[in-house]
Amino acid sequence: MTTIELYDSKPKVYRHREMYELGEFPPLGVVPKYMKAATIRPESYGKPADAFAIEDVPVPSMGPHQVLVLVMAAGINHNSVWASQGKPLDVIKLRQKMGQTEDFHIGGSDASGIVWAVGEAVRHVKPGAPVVISTAAFNPRAIDALMGGVSIYSQSSLAWGYEVNYGAFGQFTLVEEYQCFSKPENLTWEAAACYMLCAGTAYRQLMGWHPNVVTPGAPVLIWGGAGGLGSMAIQITKAFGGIPIAVVSNEERKEHCLRLGAKGVINRNDFDHWGDLPVQREHMKMKRWTDGVRAFYDEYKSQLGDSRKPKIVFEHSGAGTLPTSVFMCDTGGMVTICGATTGYIGTLDLRYLWMRSKRLQGSHGAELKEYAAVNQLVADGRIDPCLSYTESFENIGAIHQMMHDNQHPPGNLAVLVNAPEKGLRSLPADLSIY
Ligand SMILES: NC(=O)c1ccc[n+]([C@@H]2O[C@H](COP(=O)([O-])OP(=O)(O)OC[C@H]3O[C@@H](n4cnc5c(N)ncnc54)[C@H](OP(=O)(O)O)[C@@H]3O)[C@@H](O)[C@H]2O)c1
Repeated sequence: MTTIELYDSKPKVYRHREMYELGEFPPLGVVPKYMKAATIRPESYGKPADAFAIEDVPVPSMGPHQVLVLVMAAGINHNSVWASQGKPLDVIKLRQKMGQTEDFHIGGSDASGIVWAVGEAVRHVKPGAPVVISTAAFNPRAIDALMGGVSIYSQSSLAWGYEVNYGAFGQFTLVEEYQCFSKPENLTWEAAACYMLCAGTAYRQLMGWHPNVVTPGAPVLIWGGAGGLGSMAIQITKAFGGIPIAVVSNEERKEHCLRLGAKGVINRNDFDHWGDLPVQREHMKMKRWTDGVRAFYDEYKSQLGDSRKPKIVFEHSGAGTLPTSVFMCDTGGMVTICGATTGYIGTLDLRYLWMRSKRLQGSHGAELKEYAAVNQLVADGRIDPCLSYTESFENIGAIHQMMHDNQHPPGNLAVLVNAPEKGLRSLPADLSIY
């Protein structure tokens, strides 16, 4: 990893202290006892806007293969939208069942920062290195990880900043050595913080499920094209020669998708057949649904310019859209799904699935090689992280609420943590004196 140019932060006299303010830097390698963090506690589960508190908490201690990263900026994702509501999973209770004692959760599954201290067995990163972090946390020594060769299938596989505590919303985050990837030098801290989770997940959905991967000239239907995942999916599809057709809910989002290279964009508000399929006996309702989905297909065809169905349908919206996804998918194609923003009990007409040999593929996170591949695409300038909005650390609840309400601007979101202002892409000059 390379060390990059320094920015001019105000010189400060450092002593070993128990705690530092946000934006103050202890000597490289020195770990204070306490840190500021945005915590969630069970008694605050509820509206994301009210669920976070900025507290002083102990800095976690490192295991031999672990790394403490001083967080410069953190990305915003649905993981903490879910965690702050305590549903569908109470993450604090989950960890307590696993034997961990903390009664608070520090979320945040995307970050950029500086490797600050490393465990004694760490070999691949050094203090001072600018990094971005991948969400994938697993035990590389778990027998199922070793035998299966696919880390995400391991029973030990967990999401950092969700199922694993001490995520990105603290002055320091605790990660495994292998979660660290070089920060693309061309990016600001906040832009670098915002994409790994969505880009990695989208990359696996589109490129990880052979033989159903993006191929040149093949159409791909992308729900939520202007969201975090969707913005990455449009660009990944383009990068591998596919034809992205996006779905959105307003004009601003449509423009965003077209800018990213979508060939066409559908406004889902022009249709109303969403949600669960009617039960088999309700013929009138079923006819209305079929008319609705056919009208949606007509609009898709006019956006694409021909009648080929999508080879891949990129799903994460869940119950509201799954019946349409299965209908829309081409013969031998794949609906790949990683989430369920509109509900996780989905319905589908199985006839479309079996008669046309379609594949319904669950997909979760990504393998390290997939995070590496997509990070390289970002570093090469072939994928824009699409940072659209950056908040201050104190407003972390408000930015999660905005995401919960689907009121966020197109693309990805971030908060500054230790980065003193927006627009910086280099290391603090003070670091050079240690
Ligand atoms: N398993 C994993 O590894 C993984 C990783 C990342 C994300 N996820 C999950 O994937 C989901 C999306 O994540 P994200 O970061 O892309 O979120 P995001 O930035 O909020 O984007 C989600 C998009 O969904 C669309 N949407 C909202 N309500 C909808 C509805 N009723 N019907 C159709 N589309 C709707 C919105 O687009 P329009 O309103 O413009 O249509 C929105 O832009 C979340 O549930 C998240 O938890 C899972």
